[in-house]
Parts: sequence; C-alpha cells; structure tokens
Amino acid sequence: MMRQDDDAHAMREDNGMRRHAFLFAIVFATALQAAPPDIEKLIREMTLEEKLGQLSQYVPDQPELQPALKNGHVGSILNGGGAERVNELQRAVLAGSRLKIPMLVGHDVIHGYRTIFPIPLGIAATWDPSLAELSASVAAREARAAGIRWTFAPMVDIARDPRWGRISEGAGEDPHLGKLMAAAYVRGFQNNGLLACAKHYAAYGGVEGGRDYGTVEMSEQTLRDVYLPPFRAAAEAGAATFMSAFNTVNGVPATSNRFLLTDVLRGEWGFRGFVVSDWSSVTELIHHRVAAAPRDAAVAAINAGVDMAMVDGSYMTLGDAVRDKRVSMATIDEAVRRVLRAKVAAGLFDDPFTDASRTAATMLTRENRDAARRVARQSFVLLRNEGDVLPLRRDAGTIAVVGPLAESRVDLLGSWAAEGKAEDAISIFEGLRAAAGTAKVMLANDAEAAGRADVIVAVLGENRDMSGEAASRASIELSQSQQRLLEELVSTGKPVVLLVLSGRPLALAWAAEHVPAILQVWFPGIEGAAALAEVVFGDAAPGGRLPVTIPRATGQVPIYYAQLPSGRPADPANKFTNKYIDVPIGPLYPFGHGLTYTKFEYSDVEINGNVASIAVRNAGSRDGEEVVQLYITDVVASVSRPVRELKDYRRIALKAGETQRVEFTITREQLSFWKGKILTAEPGQFRLRIGPNSAVGLETTYELK
Ligand code: NOJ
Repeated sequence: MMRQDDDAHAMREDNGMRRHAFLFAIVFATALQAAPPDIEKLIREMTLEEKLGQLSQYVPDQPELQPALKNGHVGSILNGGGAERVNELQRAVLAGSRLKIPMLVGHDVIHGYRTIFPIPLGIAATWDPSLAELSASVAAREARAAGIRWTFAPMVDIARDPRWGRISEGAGEDPHLGKLMAAAYVRGFQNNGLLACAKHYAAYGGVEGGRDYGTVEMSEQTLRDVYLPPFRAAAEAGAATFMSAFNTVNGVPATSNRFLLTDVLRGEWGFRGFVVSDWSSVTELIHHRVAAAPRDAAVAAINAGVDMAMVDGSYMTLGDAVRDKRVSMATIDEAVRRVLRAKVAAGLFDDPFTDASRTAATMLTRENRDAARRVARQSFVLLRNEGDVLPLRRDAGTIAVVGPLAESRVDLLGSWAAEGKAEDAISIFEGLRAAAGTAKVMLANDAEAAGRADVIVAVLGENRDMSGEAASRASIELSQSQQRLLEELVSTGKPVVLLVLSGRPLALAWAAEHVPAILQVWFPGIEGAAALAEVVFGDAAPGGRLPVTIPRATGQVPIYYAQLPSGRPADPANKFTNKYIDVPIGPLYPFGHGLTYTKFEYSDVEINGNVASIAVRNAGSRDGEEVVQLYITDVVASVSRPVRELKDYRRIALKAGETQRVEFTITREQLSFWKGKILTAEPGQFRLRIGPNSAVGLETTYELK
C-alpha cells in the first residue's frame, strides 16, 4: 500500500514539475521583453467590481458589454476575431480600465482558423499526434495574427456513443489515443502563441442516449480510467485553461462540481490555470435545479472552482454574496490571480495589440495548405476494398461521380470552421476531375446516368450541420434517399466506391456487404478533396485507422471495444449470452481498423523480460504503412477490467516484401488502473495482444511480479 502511495505521489510531483517548467517558460519569454506586472499588487489595488469584471466574459454584440467596457470590467471577449476589431475593443477596454488590465480574446479555433483541417475525429484517425500538433500550430499562427490569444480547444471528451454529434470534435472512444492527441494539441497551440482550453470538463461525452446537453451517470472507476485521462494529459502538457461542461455528473452539474474542479483538477493534478464555464452554464445551474437565481448559481460555480463565467454575466452579481460571506474574498482573489496569470502568459501585458498589417500574409499560405493536405491524406480510413477496386486506374475509362455531397464545398469544412470559407475548397467532384489524367470524370444525377460509366464513385453521408454541437441523431444510418440511391448504383453492376462524409461513424451495414470499396472521409477540410483524389487514384495510400467503433445498427450503441467482460460472454450458439437477437455480435468495423493498398502479415509474437515483439511483413506488392497495435488484458484483478485496452502502437513503413520486428516495452503504468485516487497495478498475469486492430492479433502473456 505504502509503495503505491509513493508511486502516485512521485507521479504527481513529476507532473507538477513539468507543468511549472512550461508556465515558467512562457512567463519567462514574456519577461524578456517587458517586466511582468505585479499580480499581487494589482489584486490589492482592485475594487471588488473590478475583480468581478476580470471574471466575466462577453460576446462583442452583447448589450451588457458597453457599460462593462466603460468601467473596464471586461475580463475576456469570445468569438470577436479580426486584428483591427480586436485592437479597437482592446483600446476601449484599456481606456475604461483604471488599472490598465487588457482583456483576453478567446475563439473557437477547433480544426483550423482560416486554413481548415479535417475535423478532430478525422485527425484522430491519423493515429499520429504529430499531425494533431501540426494542425494546431497552423491554426494558432493564423488565429494569433487575427488578434486571438486563446482557443476553446482541444475538445478531449471521450465519446462512445455516435448518436452524440460532438463525437466529431474529439479523438474518439479511447483514452490512450485521447491522451496522446490531447497533449499534442496543447503543445501545438501553446507553442505558437495561443492558450489552450481543455474541454468539456468532464464526462460530457457520456450523455445519456447521446442527447447533447444531457445527463451523465458514471462510476468513479470509469470516470478515472476512461474519461479523465485525456484531461489530465492536457493539464500535464501545460494547458492554460479548462472549460467546465454543461452536463451533470452523477447528479452534480460539472459547473458546480467541486470534486471535479477543485479536488481532482487542482488538488490531485496540480493545475494552476483558470477554468471558464461553458456558454451560460453557470446560470443553467438554475435549469439543473441546484440554484434558484443567477446569484446562487454564481456562488455555487465560483465556490466549486469555475473562475470565469462565459457570457451570462452571472459573476457580476457576486458582490452581495461576497459582502454576505457566501463567497470569500480569498476565493475571488484566487480566481482573479489565475486569470491574470493567463493574461501574462498570453503576452497581453507585454503587448495587447496585434499588427493588423500582417494578418493577410499569415492566412492560407501555401505552407498551411500543404499541412492541411498532409493531415487530410492520413485521415481517410479504407474500411473495405473487395477485389482491390481502389485505387482507381487512370486508364479505367469513365468515372461517374454521384451523390448529394459530390459537388459541395462547404460540407468539407465540417461544423466548426472558424474563418474557413467554402471558396477556399474544391468539391470532391472537382478534386477527382482535376487529378484524373486520362480518365474521364463525369457528374451523374442518378443511377441510370452513373450506370453508363465504367466505375461509380458515390459521395454520401452527412452534410456538415448533421454533426457537431446540438446535432444528436437517433438514427445513424444513411438517410432513406441515400440508401435507395446506393442500392440502385450497386444494381447497375458497375464497381462502386463509396466515399463517406460524416462527423460520426455511420451504421453502414448494407454497404459493408454490397459495396466493394468504402472509404471513410470524415469532413476533410479545405484540402480534403485534393488529398482524397490522391488516395483514390493511388498517388497516396489511405493511412487512417478508426478512432471509434463503427456499429452495424444504431441500436447497438454505446458500442466500444474496451467494454467490460460479461459473466456470459456473447456466444452465437447460446441464446442466454450477452448479445442481441436481431443483429450479429460485434461491431461492423472494429476500433483500430483500417486497410491500405498493401497487406500485412503478423507472426512470431514473443515476450522477453518486459519487451513484447512481433514480426510484421508487407505481403503485398506496394510499399505501405501499418499501425501495429498493442492491447492488454488484466487476466484476474480485484475489479472487473476491460476485455482489452490499447496501450501502445507504432506506425511503421514497410517496402513491399519487407519484414520488421516491432517492439513494445511493457510498463507498470500500462498495467495500472485507478483505485480511488491511486493508480495501481496488481501482480499477476496480463494477456498481450498485438495486431492490426482491436479485434484480431497474436497473443502472449506477461507476468507482473
Ligand atoms: C458552447 C460549446 O459547448 C463550447 O464547446 C464552445 O467553446 C462555446 N460554446 C463557445 O463558443
């Protein structure tokens, strides 16, 4: 017991040090140019009203903003980008502010600012954190040039229910992949001048029925093992801020949840940044029926650990609560301190303005577009490729492009595209036509016209408004009209390639049986169509792997690979086991799945000490990349543990015919799970499985002494 305590303590210390190093680095960089303000002195000089102003965030067109500007009571503005506009507002803030405290401009810079990248779920499908970091670095430079210093990203909510539209904004269902992506985004944003905000803290992805803004009931075990790790990774990477979520967690709204916001975030993880509420989530405590009036809601939120209220003005009502001692001045001061520290880190005291003459040259550069193309190329997941229909040959004759999304540009941008513009993109039809060389690419309006071509490319799925915030769906199948079109296309007898645009996994059971080639494209960003054409014609190979399970039918969700075992594991031959009577067991496509234009063979799994290894051979005739995945199962533990969990993976490039041995070092942390506040590993056997996805692989055993 003592040992485990020591381990946990050592881990906390270590994380604390890394985080301090980061904060120190940005503060230091600023200090080189100007003396940092004396935050304590500022706090001593501020009136209570001025302090509450620092804890309040407004949108530019909000009526409450004007009087707040006059008094300098503006801590932050959101979604008011554009260097000139920001400078103008900043001048107004500084003119009103007695102590000359600049405001912090936040914006939803989610997957690009002007140069739009694939949606985060697509970026997660690259299984390459360096690409997440690249996307964030480009987004940060563009946003910063527009006067923005703070983004409400990354969204690090684990999502295991594709009915929830916001699954598109995160890294999918898995905590290991989620942690890697969370930390990469934080680095990419913050190393390029944009403060990050890990959201939505916490467990927002677990809403019942996938209904956005709904309720979450979840054991502390699942919370700590699955939903919190990406947040912790973001904190450890130095994320400057967190956002509290809309939902309740086990009856307590996240925005008044002292356990989450103070005990865990600050107490256990040592987070020193500030927490902003989500949009009006403080006054929404009234709807959650834990507060009677805005002031009570504000009291509950600030005492729980929310430092800044977004938009609802609720924190400006806290004056009386402080005078009545429902909130201590020390609590207010600490919140102000955290906000001011972030403003220092953002360089605002050094120079609160942005050089508007440089904005245009920073946006949409060739380099930024190339980065977006690179990420998009790696984000496509080849789900099926019977008879090697893909890649299409340029001497294939005529290619018909059909479907409601074939000519759309705007839908490629996804649901949260900041300053992205449809005119910056080309459509999938235009992309294919431009890259077709000697092949003839034609638009077809229906199956009859498409049937006259040699090959059919169907572009189906969701338009961009069908996923994202407030876009929960009770059915994640294709619409009836798209399904009908697809069936007609297949009945022409011509080979059909299905390109699936969507912000969530769609239940494509019929297609998976009848359409020979299926490529999951997500919403791929402004370079998406060009990248897609490269992959369709084989100039590049599909590199993505599923960051989420694809179900056969909506009724299977939530469905995810790391489920807990059943006392009666599913058995097709035994009725009284863990399954449905009307759909087959298991997913349509498992987490981690993704084909490419060559094939890989796995053999000779071995364990040597704490190193597991396997031979992977490129058994096809093209060079290619494989993502070799390590899953671990705790064979017997004191609590029921998932059937398997992803713990590590390697992306390797193999020439045709080449074999490589891939090694994984097994660490104590990989074998650990949370018991209360302690990360612990229990001695005994662990089954290791190495393979191309979560459903298949070769096994060996590791013993923890
Ligand atoms: C509400 C959303 O939940 C959150 O993700 C976003 O950052 C804020 N609105 C600000 O736009």
